[in-house]
Amino acid sequence: MTPPSTDRFTLIETDAQVALDTLAQDVARGLTAAPKTLRCRHFYDQRGSALFEAICDLPEYYVTRAEREILLAHAGAIATSFTEPVTLIELGSGSAVKTRLLIEALLAHQQKLLFVPVDISQTALEESAVGLLGCYDELEVLGVAAPYDVGLAHLHAHITGPRLALWLGSSVGNFAPGAAVAFLRDVATALDGEADRLLIGMDLHKDRGVLERAYDDAQGVTADFNLNLLRRINGELGGRFDLARFSHRAFYDEARGRVEMHIVSKRAQTVAIDHLDLDIAFADGETIHTENAYKYRIESIPALLAEAGFVLERQFFDRQRRFSLNLAYPRR
Ligand code: AVJ
Repeated sequence: MTPPSTDRFTLIETDAQVALDTLAQDVARGLTAAPKTLRCRHFYDQRGSALFEAICDLPEYYVTRAEREILLAHAGAIATSFTEPVTLIELGSGSAVKTRLLIEALLAHQQKLLFVPVDISQTALEESAVGLLGCYDELEVLGVAAPYDVGLAHLHAHITGPRLALWLGSSVGNFAPGAAVAFLRDVATALDGEADRLLIGMDLHKDRGVLERAYDDAQGVTADFNLNLLRRINGELGGRFDLARFSHRAFYDEARGRVEMHIVSKRAQTVAIDHLDLDIAFADGETIHTENAYKYRIESIPALLAEAGFVLERQFFDRQRRFSLNLAYPRR
């Protein structure tokens, strides 16, 4: 895709080779470990990002619809809680569909808006920027193609004035609780302005069947998304995975409070990864743990945010109380 040719779009890139090195290192480390793991950030190459967008439209994946329902009802109230024009930041923007609701709400109260999406996928950033800039003449986009940690550093350097940082979709759920708190502390540090706010989506505990279907849909889109990791290793690292010899598994571990996704080896097999000079042996039924999606209890959210240095200001739910949006400010 050609980058948008407009003076209203700027892209800050991190080195693609750095990204590739990280994939190589993570794959080498994760597939030689016991148990085997791969980091979920590697889902999001071009194909993976498109598959994730398809997941968001699945009947079983309630997460996106529940969050959109909340934004439809409350974006206006969130926007009017700011007295001065704000800069909108989004961590892991993806295609920014839900973000439009906030962009429109903010543009109803301020003449211009700077939108700063931070996303690991440069393609996703460019595609969403093209779409947004075509819709809103008053918008300027500063895309930061980077992992969150790198992105946060850029934010601090480039943005002044009141900031509203979005972390939607319950992406926080990919972090174990301790790591979530540590990362949110960094976010709190970056949001050091008087009027700065964080709006964070957090998915809630619910019926096992609902959760498991959301991560193992009937059409197999989530299975494709998960197995795309192996396709990516084949394409970028000379892997020789036969995708037909692996399957997708997702289950809710209630005690740990999370949905886990795994790639399961359907038989004993050894797979070469040429660029890494590795032969990876799998036992029959052995898995690669590829993702955790933590779910939260409404009562525990204020304490989690407090531990990270945030004060929960307002909480919003969809009508079925499946999902929460939490507006918080850093404790001074
Ligand atoms: C983007 C991390 C929020 O955990 O629900 C969706 C990713 N994985 N289906 C989630 C995902 C499988 C998603 N997050």
